[in-house]
Amino acid sequence: MIRDANVYDIPRINELGVLLNENFKRLFIINDMLQDDISKVIVYEKDDKVVGFIIATALYETCDILSIVVDPEYRRQGIGTNLIGYLISDLGEVLKLVTLEVATKNKEALALYDKFGFEVVHTREHYYNGDDAYLMARKSE
Ligand SMILES: CC(C)(COP(=O)(O)OP(=O)(O)OC[C@H]1O[C@@H](n2cnc3c(N)ncnc32)[C@H](O)[C@@H]1OP(=O)(O)O)[C@@H](O)C(=O)NCCC(=O)NCCS
Repeated sequence: MIRDANVYDIPRINELGVLLNENFKRLFIINDMLQDDISKVIVYEKDDKVVGFIIATALYETCDILSIVVDPEYRRQGIGTNLIGYLISDLGEVLKLVTLEVATKNKEALALYDKFGFEVVHTREHYYNGDDAYLMARKSE
C-alpha cells in the first residue's frame, strides 16, 4: 500500500534513509516536511511495515525528488517504480518538470529514472564524497 507518511513513520524513514546517506537525519527533518506545504513524504507499506519511501519538494509546476530508498530485502519488486509513479500522478497535470540528483555510478537508480524518461541535463563533478553526480530532469507537456 502506498500512502502519505505520518509522524509514526519517521523512525523507519530515517532508518532507511541512512542506508543511502549517513547524514540523512541531519539533512532532512521529516517532522518539518510533514507539516510544511511544499514537501511530499510518501511511504510504501508491505508485510505490515514501511519498506520504502520517497521525499520531494513540489512547488507550482516543479518537483525535486530529494531521496528515494527501498529496503534491500524488497528491491526489484517494482516498489521504487510505484513510489515515483504515485508522486507524479499525485501532483497531477500541473506538474511540468521533475528534477533529481544521482551518483553517476548508481546503476540501479539510473535504470529506474530511465524508465520514467529522466534525462541527464548536467554533470556535477566530485559531488558525493568525490563521486560525480548527474542532475536529471523529466519534462512533461
Ligand atoms: C534505486 C531503488 C530505489 C530502486 O528501487 P526498486 O524498488 O528496487 O526499483 P524497481 O523494482 O521499481 O525497479 C525499477 C527499475 O530499476 C531498474 N533496476 C532496479 N534495480 C536494478 C538492479 N539491481 N539492476 C539493474 N536494474 C535495476 C530496472 O530497470 C527496474 O525495472 P524492471 O525490474 O522492470 O527491470 C533501490 O535500488 C534503492 O533503494 N537503492 C538505494 C538507494 C538509492 O540509491 N536511491 C536513489 C538515490 S538518487
